[in-house]
Amino acid sequence: MPGYNHLFIPGPTNIPEQVRQAMNLPMEDMRSPRYPELTLPLFADVRRVFKNQNGRVFIYPSSGTGAWEAAMTNVLSPGDHVLMSRFGQFSHLWVDMAERLGFEVDCIDMEWGTGVPVELYAERLTADKAHTIKAVFVTHNETATGVTSDVAAVRAALDACNHPALLFVDGVSSIGSIDFRQDEWGVDCAVSGSQKGFMLPAGLGFLSVSAKALDAAKTGRHMRCYFSFEDMIKTNDAGYFPYTPPTQLLRGLRASLDLIFEEGLENIFTRHHHLANGVRAAVSAWGLKLCASEPKWYSDTVSAIRLPEGLDGTEVIKHAYRTYNTSLGSGLSKVAGKVFRIGHLGSLNEVMVLGALAAAELTLLDCGVKIEAGSGVGAAINQFRAAAATATAKAA
Ligand SMILES: Cc1ncc(COP(=O)(O)O)c(C=O)c1O
Repeated sequence: MPGYNHLFIPGPTNIPEQVRQAMNLPMEDMRSPRYPELTLPLFADVRRVFKNQNGRVFIYPSSGTGAWEAAMTNVLSPGDHVLMSRFGQFSHLWVDMAERLGFEVDCIDMEWGTGVPVELYAERLTADKAHTIKAVFVTHNETATGVTSDVAAVRAALDACNHPALLFVDGVSSIGSIDFRQDEWGVDCAVSGSQKGFMLPAGLGFLSVSAKALDAAKTGRHMRCYFSFEDMIKTNDAGYFPYTPPTQLLRGLRASLDLIFEEGLENIFTRHHHLANGVRAAVSAWGLKLCASEPKWYSDTVSAIRLPEGLDGTEVIKHAYRTYNTSLGSGLSKVAGKVFRIGHLGSLNEVMVLGALAAAELTLLDCGVKIEAGSGVGAAINQFRAAAATATAKAA
């Protein structure tokens, strides 16, 4: 088929040309005396993205899942009591990992389409007078359902009852795309991965930790080896790694961070909100519903869109791929076949989003969904133009 594949899954995301070019270089010596000229600024700049001035960041040659494991095995001890919630495939997988690593998990199951139950967390924390809960977990952006949770509110709940539990946040599909403030929100372990907001291939797991988490790691008794903070710190401090680092990815990271700072984090968050509003306008014009059950849960990086009863989402996605060379995200686990997802994060603009919406419209029409041709695309165009007019008026 002529043209290229239009990638609108919520990660891996589209890679800017500058980043791709930056990774096209010969192998280099990762023990050379000059290597720290690359790595030391990388550590500092990744911390800027997390807004972590007081702790440190670990960059693992893994996907985000490795950084989940690194966080838990370094900072906690076997049998530790942790408070988690599950409302989608990724929050489920984090719970599953915590159980398999031997923690005592108090998991609150929520309806898929909602997010972290802050009030229930507050109740559990207030009742825990003996402070047996060692860590509280938040999936900031549940990629499977397109739901964003309120990390600051969880911090406020911890503070309201003076609970010393550590705060762990999965920011794999939020950090670098949606507002995230590690220091201000008192996040102790924040996890992300390279293939979403960082606009890189998969292969780097980021774990940004607070000084409190670093302290906790000194007494944490869980088995750890590959992900050991201690081993990393010993070598990272001099600009090296305890094993062979993925040198191309680190060069790509340099280029992606340069692009991020050139645009500015706050502008990136605004752009994501703007693009997401366009997608939401289209969904509403089609007469369809998001999986996220209320506006307070709407995600600015991914929309999971409910399909009419009786339609098999897997077939819808296959049709988009085969007929229009367009990759839309599939429904996962509990919502498999019931939703399709549009990833609207990373290196993306209005025209690309309109392309995704046009492909979705063509596909939905072909699959027999009763929508009007052009309705979603038109609604998104109107949304984008209205937002641009408001911004111009404000600036005048
Ligand atoms: C919210 C969230 N957490 C964790 C993961 C797992 O990350 P990875 O696939 O990089 O291991 C993903 C992957 O999509 C995710 O979206």
